[in-house]
Amino acid sequence: MAGNSMICTSNNVDYSTIRKAMCAGAPTVDELKEMAGVCSTCEGCKRELDKILTSVCGCLNVSLKDVIDAVKSGVDTVEKVGEITGAGTDCGRCKALVKNIIELGR
Ligand code: FES
Ligand code: FES
Repeated sequence: MAGNSMICTSNNVDYSTIRKAMCAGAPTVDELKEMAGVCSTCEGCKRELDKILTSVCGCLNVSLKDVIDAVKSGVDTVEKVGEITGAGTDCGRCKALVKNIIELGR
């Protein structure tokens, strides 16, 4: 998804703002409300937000579950998560988020 795609049209919050909030540690819609400013009032956006929250790497189509499973199996660096899941091995934008997930999983 393009970084400037508007997700929350009521509050003008784009995709990259949401991703940045996720990298900063927002794992749920409620936290995205606080940290990114989404209103989350319309059903369409809620579905969109859920989709964004469950995806870690848009380039390689890697889900949050894939990364959490890797971390739970003992993978403890961004590079190793990349080797196993592919996350972070293309544009690299999701590496901060992967790092965050590793830290939370410790
Ligand atoms: S317009 Fe804000 S979440 Fe739908
Ligand atoms: S979003 Fe993960 S490598 Fe581009």
